[in-house]
Amino acid sequence: MTLNWIKASKQLNIKGLILLALAVFSFTQPVFSQEGIIDTALVIQGKELFKGNCAACHNAKKDMTGPKLEGVSAKWATEVGDFEGKSSEEWLYDWIRNWKTPVDAGVPYAVEMQNYDPSVMQTNLGLADEEIKAILYYVDNSEALNKQTVVVDNLDAEDPTSNINWLLGFLIVALLIAALALAKITKTLNRAAVSKSGVAETEGKPFFKSGFFKTLVTVIIAALVIYLLASQAISLGRQQGYQPMQPIKYSHALHAGEYAIDCKYCHTAAVEGKHSNIPSTNVCMNCHKMIQSGPKHGRKEIAKIYAAIGYNPLQGTYFDKENTSAKEVEEVFTKFIDQDKDNKEIKAATAQDYKNVIEMYDKPIEWVRIHNLPDHVYFNHAQHVNVGKVECQTCHGNIQDMEVVEQHSPLSMGWCINCHRNTEVDLGNEYYKDFDKLQKMKELHNSVTVEDIGGTECQKCHY
Ligand code: HEC
Ligand code: HEC
Ligand code: HEC
Ligand code: HEC
Ligand code: HEC
Ligand code: HEC
Repeated sequence: MTLNWIKASKQLNIKGLILLALAVFSFTQPVFSQEGIIDTALVIQGKELFKGNCAACHNAKKDMTGPKLEGVSAKWATEVGDFEGKSSEEWLYDWIRNWKTPVDAGVPYAVEMQNYDPSVMQTNLGLADEEIKAILYYVDNSEALNKQTVVVDNLDAEDPTSNINWLLGFLIVALLIAALALAKITKTLNRAAVSKSGVAETEGKPFFKSGFFKTLVTVIIAALVIYLLASQAISLGRQQGYQPMQPIKYSHALHAGEYAIDCKYCHTAAVEGKHSNIPSTNVCMNCHKMIQSGPKHGRKEIAKIYAAIGYNPLQGTYFDKENTSAKEVEEVFTKFIDQDKDNKEIKAATAQDYKNVIEMYDKPIEWVRIHNLPDHVYFNHAQHVNVGKVECQTCHGNIQDMEVVEQHSPLSMGWCINCHRNTEVDLGNEYYKDFDKLQKMKELHNSVTVEDIGGTECQKCHY
């Protein structure tokens, strides 16, 4: 144990040097993008409705058969305004249900708009106010669903494997250039000496046979071997890159990436508590009561959510568990999954697929835990996410691009401490406004790192 720790602290020094070197080469730190608060659930609801009712003729961003719809509420507010006791919003809702209503009422803008295209807009009499609201919200926020958050892992600078290679490469090239230059100088000097003494030039030993070159090669190889051994020893017993199969083919790339659902929508506890959480099945149901099929797996994966929570998707009610036989459950889910049979884009369900769903009936979903610190380590999510303002991706990598989650960071002690040494505490934070000592420290040293507030003291992280 102690040996490991000594090794770890040596490793830290290597990393420290790398960081210093990187700083010298003015390595630019990436910036995090910050998103405004968008009601993603409403955007998604709007998108679904838009796809079903409007997308044949409209696009949010560009003119098609109908005009582009982004900003249309604002447009109607200025172009239509209040007209005959009704607000522009009410006229707009009328138009969407049946464009004839405002035209017949003589709203000048509507009368003009009907000539936009020879074809006419269909009626949408069945749309409720809530649904129109969602559609209009979606067209104004459509890019929220496409925007891949530009997040770059600023800890890459401390990942020994990625940067030591780079640095070693640089060192080797630098040393070779120096060696060649040296060889050249020696040769010129020799020549000068020779021509001075008037003796004919003798054939010199080739450079690669010189003792200097041999020493150089030995040193470089030794450094490489030592580094590789040390990094292997340190990562032993940890599981960076661990990527187990999960009971449901839930995809972060789809939910947090393509649909840009906020991490905190599902992992609420990461902001509030010591531990983060895996969302309960009820959270999935917020959306999946309505969204019953997915682009890649159709119904067979979403069916597992229904099975686990005991929901009958055919009737839209929860099973009465006392009075439902296993056979009934099997029939419901078989029938539900079979609705995909006509859909050529979905791979047909196998016998095992049906079985997997039915087996999950009335049981909690057993997600496989990926990140796991040893019990003797204290780690608090809220402290980092809320107080420290560290982005999820800094520690977990670009989760929003992952089909299947994998452990991105080593979760080693060196990893924690490195970041604490190199990260400044945000003293503008509410949390620190009464800490005069820290504010003074800041004035004196210009910066206060997590280390300065005790972030490398053993007892802060160890029980
Ligand atoms: C069959 C094609 C079609 C469909 C489907 C359709 N529209 Fe239209 N829409 C049009 C056309 C065409 C116009 C331009 C008016 C015209 O030429 O009649 C228009 C105009 C509009 C306008 C006025 C735009 C402006 O700039 O003021 C709005 C708002 C609108 N549509 C909303 C919707 C919504 C919301 C849906 C879905 C619920 C929808 N439309 C479905 C064809 C369609
Ligand atoms: C729609 C809900 C949802 C959203 C949004 C979501 N997650 Fe998850 N997350 C899950 C579920 C379910 C699991 C467990 C299954 C898995 O590992 O894929 C999980 C697992 C994880 C894990 C691994 C937990 C472990 O076992 O160690 C991490 C880390 C994580 N999420 C981070 C994020 C981050 C960061 C974001 C935002 C970019 C995010 N999640 C957005 C539902 C969600
Ligand atoms: C905020 C809304 C929302 C929440 C919450 C949510 N999903 Fe989804 N989910 C979606 C959307 C949107 C789709 C894609 C539907 C589409 O494109 O047709 C989807 C698709 C899926 C699919 C099908 C993927 C495919 O490619 O076929 C699975 C499986 C799934 N979700 C599982 C889950 C699980 C498990 C949870 C809870 C941990 C969850 N979802 C929570 C919105 C949500
Ligand atoms: C400073 C690094 C760091 C940041 C920032 C961070 N995490 Fe974690 N996360 C960890 C570590 C370390 C663990 C393992 C904790 C353990 O085993 O006790 C973990 C575990 C998790 C887990 C598994 C459940 C658990 O608590 O063990 C989830 C889910 C998760 N993180 C989600 C998130 C989300 C979502 C965010 C952003 C809101 C986030 N994390 C921000 C380091 C971080
Ligand atoms: C990406 C950088 C980063 C990583 C990685 C990180 N931390 Fe932190 N940590 C911070 C920041 C920033 C703070 C300061 C938060 C604040 O303002 O109080 C902090 C504070 C702490 C504190 C409170 C320190 C104090 O003096 O109050 C503890 C304990 C802690 N971290 C434990 C850990 C552990 C354990 C790990 C590794 C599993 C870890 N941290 C990994 C950035 C990081
Ligand atoms: C910023 C948080 C942090 C601080 C400060 C910290 N540790 Fe650790 N320590 C960890 C983490 C995380 C692990 C678990 C690493 C792993 O699983 O490989 C760990 C593991 C250990 C281990 C077990 C080694 C092993 O390989 O399992 C020892 C011993 C240890 N720490 C001693 C110390 C001592 C002594 C100090 C004070 C000089 C200290 N730690 C300060 C986070 C910290």
